[in-house]
Amino acid sequence: MLRKPSISSLFALAATVLVDLAASQPAPGIALQADSNTLEVIYGSNTVDPAGELMPRSDLLSPPTFRLPSLPNSPPGPFILLMLDSDVPRNNSRVPLLHWLSSNVTLSTTPSNSNPASLRLPPESQQEAPYRPPNPPVGDSPHAYTFLLYASPASGFSLPASVNFSDIQQRVFSSEDALVRFLGSAGIEGAAVAANYMQVRNLSVSATGTTTFPPPRATGAAGNGTTGDESGNGGNRSVEFEGSAGRRAVVLGIGGEGAFWMGVVGMAVAVGMAAVML
Ligand SMILES: *[C@@H]1O[C@H](CO)[C@@H](O)[C@H](O)[C@H]1NC(C)=O
Ligand SMILES: *[C@@H]1O[C@H](CO)[C@@H](O)[C@H](O)[C@H]1NC(C)=O
Ligand SMILES: *[C@@H]1O[C@H](CO)[C@@H](O)[C@H](O)[C@H]1NC(C)=O
Ligand SMILES: *[C@@H]1O[C@H](CO)[C@@H](O)[C@H](O)[C@H]1NC(C)=O
Ligand SMILES: *[C@@H]1O[C@H](CO)[C@@H](O)[C@H](O)[C@H]1NC(C)=O
Ligand SMILES: *[C@@H]1O[C@H](CO)[C@@H](O)[C@H](O)[C@H]1NC(C)=O
Repeated sequence: MLRKPSISSLFALAATVLVDLAASQPAPGIALQADSNTLEVIYGSNTVDPAGELMPRSDLLSPPTFRLPSLPNSPPGPFILLMLDSDVPRNNSRVPLLHWLSSNVTLSTTPSNSNPASLRLPPESQQEAPYRPPNPPVGDSPHAYTFLLYASPASGFSLPASVNFSDIQQRVFSSEDALVRFLGSAGIEGAAVAANYMQVRNLSVSATGTTTFPPPRATGAAGNGTTGDESGNGGNRSVEFEGSAGRRAVVLGIGGEGAFWMGVVGMAVAVGMAAVML
């Protein structure tokens, strides 16, 4: 969300802070857990705010920067940063794709509300899986991208020797369980110390051929009461429509039923699975 200072923005800011407190977390419905610390995700002049904001893909081509306003029980670091898309269509299901993985992430300072810390990442050449921009398939329902910051395991962090994240196919996991097992094998377990998420979609109509997408992943929305969403009502989520400069925020209710998105998918007639990614 872009902010311009104005009197009314004071009210908006107050509301935003409340949203932040309630919603600084992984995407609804995923198994990975995090403490309630907000990881601020900043793409240029566009901060992901509120959590789950629908971001314009064109703003996301370069990696974001991060700030931590607070970190109670502050572990000293270093940290591990992870970004994943939980909604990649594969085999008539939704599976995770690792967009980014970097160990050896440090803080610029001890964070406090008046003095947030910035995250310092190693150069890309030293990152285990350099950033890949979101690129959800044309016409699919919005994909949720979660950012998680983990304390480095005391025993150290290392990837299994067989892993090659230059190979995009190796960034796709067969299930969230498989991703959790992989993280565990690299020493990442338990709750992340901070998190946030955004959503991205691509409604361009440039299609040849027909593909139908698997249903959106269960997020605890109405009709599937598995977990409940971040507002705790087990049903409707609201996100802001692609909040870049000059556009008006439009609130879309996307909980409750897949009908809206199924309609979009049916209308957009998406490209073949080979071209469909991430
Ligand atoms: C972590 O980063 C620091 C500086 O950014 C570097 O000196 C150090 O070698 C790195 N450690 C590892 C294990 O990569
Ligand atoms: C890793 O994957 C990339 C891309 O597929 C490939 O070019 C490279 O040879 C692989 N590296 C190893 C060590 O297998
Ligand atoms: C999809 O199914 C095929 C065939 O069963 C399997 O080889 C492949 O690993 C599956 N892909 C994913 C991402 O699970
Ligand atoms: C949507 O996807 C198409 C095909 O990948 C791409 O050419 C286009 O730039 C994307 N549009 C946006 C707004 O990201
Ligand atoms: C709800 O989601 C869970 C987990 O994805 C799934 O196992 C279950 O079948 C779903 N139930 C309904 C009614 O869709
Ligand atoms: C979701 O919104 C619809 C329409 O506004 C409403 O009828 C329904 O009760 C809401 N569901 C929940 C769980 O809040």
